[in-house]
Amino acid sequence: MQRTIYVNGEYKPESEALISVFDRAFLFGDGIYEVSAVIGGRMIDNHLHIARLERSLGELDMPMPLSREDLVEVQQELIARNRLDEGVVYLQVSRGSEDRGFDYSDDLKPSLIGFTQSRKIRDTPSLRDGIRVAVVDDLRWGRRDIKTTMLLAQVQAKRLAKAAGCAEAWLVQDGTITEGASSSAFILTRAGCLVTRPNSHAILPGCTRQAVLQAARELGLEMEERPFTVDEARTAGEAFLTSASSLVTPVVEIDGHTIGEGRPGPVTRRIQQIYLELALPAETSVQ
Ligand code: PDD
Repeated sequence: MQRTIYVNGEYKPESEALISVFDRAFLFGDGIYEVSAVIGGRMIDNHLHIARLERSLGELDMPMPLSREDLVEVQQELIARNRLDEGVVYLQVSRGSEDRGFDYSDDLKPSLIGFTQSRKIRDTPSLRDGIRVAVVDDLRWGRRDIKTTMLLAQVQAKRLAKAAGCAEAWLVQDGTITEGASSSAFILTRAGCLVTRPNSHAILPGCTRQAVLQAARELGLEMEERPFTVDEARTAGEAFLTSASSLVTPVVEIDGHTIGEGRPGPVTRRIQQIYLELALPAETSVQ
């Protein structure tokens, strides 16, 4: 069964969903994207993803290809047409296509594509048992707050992590962890303080991060938004990462160092639970 893909106003079977070889996302990485999780056929934190999509476009001086409402309608149509129960819906906006040149025409029309991926989001071994992360140099550009399709540094970091037997890379710059290659990074100090890097040009402002900080506030946890060192991470009491597709994933080993007891800690478990309760509508809120 072929998926149905959205390409510039049309819904097409996968084999007919085509874009130009001159698309600027393809030639220059001149595009942005969003990934929203779907559970029980419904999107999680989607208003945050749509708001960030609009912000990314604004920062790159690209127009919105559709209104916010129409973007959500495309996402919902993709979920319905592909009968997606659990997985992700992906949207990508590129600056558009014209003959190759670094400069672009002011009236270039952006192109919009969208597709779904069916995959388990809840009840995965990673959520249950936690994962190992490797510490890898952060080689990305200086505007990581923009969710661009320019992802080669992340692809390479994840390859290095995989070679070290780890499921994710935590990126390091000047001795502090910026974030995961495709996730936000959190540690809980042995004194019980939840620490994550503040939003800036150095990291992507994670939507799940924002929702999790809200959950932690409701739990009354002590929190600090500040950079933390590799050493602090290695010796943390607990650690976890967040993203749309991995929710709140416990981290049980960093750079070969066991975190806490080597299994998901109690605070991480509580945050996992509260996050899902807040994010999911009541009828799908089963772990
Ligand atoms: N990545 N930091 C980076 C560098 C990311 O690529 C992502 C998400 C996050 C977490 O953001 P959010 O909670 O809004 O998903 C943080 C997505 C899932 C991806 O590229 O597939």
